Amino acid sequence: MLNLDTARVPRWMYVAGIAASLVTWAAPRPARDPRVAIRIDCHADSPSCALASPFALDIWSEEQGPDVPLELVVRESSLTSLTAAHIDYQVTVANIDAVAEAEAQRLRQLDGSGDFFADYRDYAAITEHLHQLAALAPDRVTVQPIGVSLEGRPIWALKIGHGATKILINGTQHAREWISTMVNTSIADRLVRNYATDPAIQKFVDTTTLWVVPVVNPDGYQYTWGTDRYWRKNRRDRHGTDLNRNWAVAWGGAGASKQKGSDTYRGEYAFSEPETQALRDLAMRERFSLHLDFHAFSQLILYPWGWTAKPAADRDRFAGVGDKMASAMFAQHQINYRLMQSVELYPAAGTMEDWMYGEVGALSYTIELRPKSGLRSGFVLPPAQIKPTSDEGFAALLALRSAAK
Ligand code: ARG
Ligand code: ZN
Repeated sequence: MLNLDTARVPRWMYVAGIAASLVTWAAPRPARDPRVAIRIDCHADSPSCALASPFALDIWSEEQGPDVPLELVVRESSLTSLTAAHIDYQVTVANIDAVAEAEAQRLRQLDGSGDFFADYRDYAAITEHLHQLAALAPDRVTVQPIGVSLEGRPIWALKIGHGATKILINGTQHAREWISTMVNTSIADRLVRNYATDPAIQKFVDTTTLWVVPVVNPDGYQYTWGTDRYWRKNRRDRHGTDLNRNWAVAWGGAGASKQKGSDTYRGEYAFSEPETQALRDLAMRERFSLHLDFHAFSQLILYPWGWTAKPAADRDRFAGVGDKMASAMFAQHQINYRLMQSVELYPAAGTMEDWMYGEVGALSYTIELRPKSGLRSGFVLPPAQIKPTSDEGFAALLALRSAAK
C-alpha cells in the first residue's frame, strides 16, 4: 500500500517521472516479510532516493526534497535489493507491524472502566461515549447519525450548543490517524463536562453551534483495529477510496490517483462515497463558517488552497487566524505547529479543506497532529500523548472561534 498523508509522492519524484512506480496494491500483512521503516539521506548529487522509491510501500517523511531525508516503508525482503543497488539507508523501525501488535496487545488488556482518554478507543467505545455526553446535557447536546458507511455503520455526530456561529470539526477521514479520533472526542467531552464550571466554555457553547464528527470513516477505522493498523482509506470494494481526495473541488487533479490500489485513490467520481456524502449534506445544510479537519501526523496547520499554488482570496485572513491558532497550541506544551498553505507541503486535489472553503465559504483548516516525524512511532502515538495533543486541538478550536468573530 502506498500511504500518503504526511506521506506523499515528493515533487522531485514527479519531476523524475517515477511517481507511477509508487502505486502498489493493498495487500494483507505477510507474516514472514515484515514492513520496515527506513530513512535515506537524499543528496542532490546522489540517486539513492530515486532508486529506492520503487520499493516504497509508503512514504512517511513530512517534507521531501533533494537534501531532505526520506522516510520510507519497505518490505524487509527489499532491503537486500537496496543494499545491492548501493543505497545507503538506516532502519528506523525494524518491524512496523510488530509495533502495531505491541499496541494491540496493550489495548486488549485495557480496562473499559478507567479514564476514557488514557488510551485509544474503538468505534463502539467512541459511539457509546458520544451517547453518554449527550445524556449528560440533553438541553444543549444531541447525538445523531449524519449518514451510514459502506458497511452499514452510522457516522455519528455530536451537536453542542444552539448559538449563531456554526462550526464543524471532524477526524478520521483517514483510518489510521487514531489521535484525530481521540482529539475530536476529547474536545466534545471538555465542552460538555466543563460547561458549568468554566466561563470561557460556557460562553463558547452559548454562542456556537458546534458539530463534532470524530469518526468520519468507521469502516476503515475498524479495519485498523482488527486487520491492518496502517490502513488509510475507506473499504470500498476492498481496495478503498481516499476520502480526502473524494471532494468536488478540483476532484481528480494533482496529488490524487485514479488507480484503485493507490492510497490516494480519488474514487469513481466526486462524492462517490457515503462517508463524504454525509459530511457534504451536513455542511450544505448547516453552512458552517469555520471548520477544522484533524489528521495526523507532522504538526502542521494547513489552509487552502491545496490543489493550486494560487493564493486563496482570503489568504491573509487564513494566515492571521492560523497564526493565532499556532500560538494558542504552542502555549499548551511548547509544541510548534507550522502554518502554511496546503499546496506548499504537496499538491492534493479533492480535499475536504478546499471544498469547505470553496463551496461552503468556511474558514477551513487541516490540522496535522502529533507526532512531528515517523522516526519513532508515526501513526502509533503513545497513549500518554492523547491528553496533551487534545489540549492543543482544543486550544486551536478556541483560538479559531475567537479570532474569527
Ligand atoms: N495530509 C492530508 C492528506 O493527505 C491533508 C492534505 C492537505 N492538503 C494538501 N494539499 N497538502 O489528505
Ligand atoms: Zn490524514
